Amino acid sequence: MEWSDEYSVGIDEMDKQHRQLFRLLSEFEDAIRSGKEAIVIGPVVDKLFSYTKTHFVKEEKLMRNHSYPDLESHKKAHADMVEQVEDLYQRSLTNGGVMKTELLGFIADWLLVHIIETDKKYSLHIKGKDPCTATNL
Ligand SMILES: [Fe+2]
Ligand SMILES: [Fe+2]
Repeated sequence: MEWSDEYSVGIDEMDKQHRQLFRLLSEFEDAIRSGKEAIVIGPVVDKLFSYTKTHFVKEEKLMRNHSYPDLESHKKAHADMVEQVEDLYQRSLTNGGVMKTELLGFIADWLLVHIIETDKKYSLHIKGKDPCTATNL
């Protein structure tokens, strides 16, 4: 997972957190590839999950502070993701390596699509560039 400027939502703090998520995903990938996953995977996954949840909370707070009209559906997308990831993770514990790769792929794909299609929308609103919701032009 390489960061690219096309993923930028144009809000520094959120870009910083998204970059950190990319870094944690790379650590997860390395842990799977290292073959030592039984030892290192737990802490790596814990870090990734807890940072993801922290990021969601901060992002939702930012949207709330800017009266973002699509806050509820955005929150639901976050909650659904956490639920799916936790379910996949639980299943990966009994199914071994293949499932962990699937889990990694799911998180990576979800994150990319979510940043590009969903997170960028709050940034348009916050920056006052969304003609439908702009209140601070
Ligand atoms: Fe989001
Ligand atoms: Fe985000």
